[in-house]
Formats: sequence, C-alpha cells, structure tokens
Amino acid sequence: MNATNPRGVALDPIETASRDEITALQLTRLKDTLSRAYAGSPVYRAKFDAAGVHPDDLKSLSDLSKFPFTVKQDLRDNYPYGMFAVPQDQLARVHASSGTTGKPTVVGYTKTDIDMWASVVARSIRAAGGAPGDVCHIAYGYGLFTGGLGAHYGAEKLGCTVVPVSGGMTERQVTLIEDFGPSIIMVTPSYMLSILDAFRAAGKDPRASNLRVGIFGAEPWTNSMRTEIEDAFGIDAVDIFGLSEVIGPGVAQECVETKDGLHIWEDHFYPEVVNPETGEPVADGEMGELVFTSLTKEAFPIIRYRTRDLTRLLPGTARSMRRMEKVTGRSDDMIILRGVNVFPTQIEEQILKVGGLSPHYEIHLDRQGRMDTMLVKCEAVGTGDGAQDRELAHHIKSVIGISAKVELTRPGTLSRSEGKARRVFDNRPAR
Ligand code: DLL
Repeated sequence: MNATNPRGVALDPIETASRDEITALQLTRLKDTLSRAYAGSPVYRAKFDAAGVHPDDLKSLSDLSKFPFTVKQDLRDNYPYGMFAVPQDQLARVHASSGTTGKPTVVGYTKTDIDMWASVVARSIRAAGGAPGDVCHIAYGYGLFTGGLGAHYGAEKLGCTVVPVSGGMTERQVTLIEDFGPSIIMVTPSYMLSILDAFRAAGKDPRASNLRVGIFGAEPWTNSMRTEIEDAFGIDAVDIFGLSEVIGPGVAQECVETKDGLHIWEDHFYPEVVNPETGEPVADGEMGELVFTSLTKEAFPIIRYRTRDLTRLLPGTARSMRRMEKVTGRSDDMIILRGVNVFPTQIEEQILKVGGLSPHYEIHLDRQGRMDTMLVKCEAVGTGDGAQDRELAHHIKSVIGISAKVELTRPGTLSRSEGKARRVFDNRPAR
C-alpha cells in the first residue's frame, strides 16, 4: 500500500495502518462517544435507559449492536437542538436538510467538529488525486445543505485554491471553468450533466478545459454514468459519499487509483450493515442497510444512525480502511411496480446502454384501472436510428423484468438538475 496518493502527497498514517491499529482506535473512540452522548444528551440517555444499556456495557466493537438505533424521526422529534450533547454556545455552525415533508432535520458542529470535517474532506480530495495548489471549483450548493461548505473547508485545508461557485447559473459555470482553469470540480453527477449541456450549447469543447478530476456525490449514480462523464470531459470521475446526520460529504471516498468503491474514513465513522427488516447486523460482504456511529463528533454524536442507503462492506484495497460498494439505491427510492422492486439507477444503466439518448431521464408512475404503469422519458439526441424507444423498453423488460413505456422527447425538454436530481414522479393514488 502506498503512503502517498498518485501525485506524491503523503497520506495520514492511519490510512495505511494495520486493521488491529484501526480497531483499537475505534474501540477507544467508541467508548468515549457513548459516554459523551449519555452524559451530554438527555435524548440518548433516555434511549439507552429504555433499552437497558449503559456505555460501560461496550467491551468490544460488536457490543455496539446492543445499543438502540437512531432514525430520522428522532431528529424531527427533537427539533432543532434537542439531540445535541453540548450547550448551544459551543456550536460553531448548524446545517439542515430540507427533507421532502415536515420539519427539516438540524445538525450541529463545534469548532473541533468543523476541523475534523475539513480533515476528512481534505483526505477525500487527496484520495481523488488532488494536491495542494489545485484550483477546485465547487458547484455543490452552499447554505444549509452540507455539500458546498463541507467541500469548501476540506479543499482549503488540503491547500487548494477554492472557487466557491455554488449551484445554478449554469452558463456562468462554463465561463468560470474556462477562465479560472480549475483542475478539480466538486458537484453532483446530475448537475455535471447540466454543465456538459451548457458547454455543448455554447459550442465549446468540454475536453479542452483544464479539469482533470471530478468528485461526484450526494445522489446515486452508476458506473455507466461514470464512463459517460469521464469520456465527455476527459477526466477521472470518483465517488464521494456522506450525509448530514453523520457529518456531510467526506464520510467515504473512492480512490482514483482503484475506483473500486468508497473507503470509509473508519477512524471517525464506524460502519455497520444491518438487515433492513430485522435490524440484525450482517457479515461484511452481505448487502443491507448502512448504519453509522460517529467516533469523534462532539456537538452531535450520532449513534447507530440508519441511513436507508443499501450497500455492503468490503475489505480495504488502496487504503486499509474498509470500502462500501457504490450506493445505487436507498430503501426510500425503491419503486415497487406490480410486485417488482426497481431502483432508478437500474433504469439509468439501461438508458446509457442505448446509443443516441441523452443521460437525462425521468420516471413517471401512474395507475390505469388497477394496473400500475411506468413511463420512462428520455431525450433522443439525433444520432440514433429512431428505434431507441423500442430498444430501451426491450432492455428494461429483459434485464429488470418489467414492462415500461418509453417516450422520447426532443433534446433539452426534460428538466435539468442544479443539485440532487429528481428522477421519480409518482402519481399513483394511495391504495
Ligand atoms: O448529500 C452530503 C454530500 C454532499 C455527500 C456532497 C456528497 C457530496 P444529505 O443531503 O444529508 O447529505 O443526503 C444524504 O444522500 O443518505 C444518500 O442517500 C445520498 N448520497 C450522498 N452521497 C451519495 C453517493 C449529502 N456518493 C444522502 N452515492 C445519503 C449515492 C449518496 N448516494
């Protein structure tokens, strides 16, 4: 295992430490986190007491499974600051996620938390092949969303020159990429596609920019989409994962030299994968729901948070920390159509197989009589043979096993993402 990234930038020693060193550090930090959560947060104290567990019951890492889960509803019930383990005057910042319904969920950070977060994002950018001095264009949204500011502090910490663009004003994104010459871009993969359209609409060659690396996350995307973006821009595209409840971006990151899933920064975030139905932990290598416990966070220690993201844990490769397989679906996003479970990314894969279709798509669900229907809308970009709708419907039927209608629209007619893309429009009445 190399002690530097491909650009020769030194890694943190823990990134190449032995498994024994990593687990010893995790156990110490986990005990400390449970004690701080119990002492500082009445909500955690009540949850632990109700489950009949005490921080002293944790003797080994596997004892964590005795502790209760935390779910999004816990944050809603204790809106806004109820779960925090430090007094409000020690909070340096709060972020919030809008959610689709109801109150937002609020997360808080001490100064030390912000610094730790910057370190894991800096480590992520380095794993993506970044180095001090790189110009880094950040097109994740700034504000309550953790993407923009999370990426920003990390890029500064690594020693990059940060261009804090935020999302939106897509034509200006193109101008800034041309004029400021960033070598790194951090943005959602779907917004990168909107930027690609803007390059083409302006008659400019996206491969002629100085961009070398794209660090894409905040939403599911497939390896086929990776190839699409890499070919269009002539860059390396790597995956960054995170969620506000755990810290924000920088929980896990794919290494540019292997592109084989995301190394979880296990010295700060302890992962488990559980059976989504029973909540029982499953062995490494088995699919299930990802659960995280923070190991160093002060303001908002998070204990066994159920992410709803589906993946599996894999052994380390380019780093000794374990990897998680690319998240291609959340239990929330799963479409159940006439008894078949489908994730939007499975449709994405089939679209990208067919020539002459743009990578923008929408999935519309309706009900006709008692029958659920799926309509996949995508744009024909002119180079195809006009039979792409039949070809796509055939792939969806033969690979996924469902009959879907396909509607080809003119280029530029589907809505464009400026952040997290909305893929599914479910118009089915509740049964
Ligand atoms: O999306 C944090 C983030 C910002 C990550 C920028 C990466 C880059 P939330 O808004 O709380 O936080 O949404 C978290 O987004 O539970 C996943 O379902 C999804 N998600 C995040 N990264 C990925 C990824 C940010 N790389 C939720 N692949 C998570 C798939 C992702 N899904």
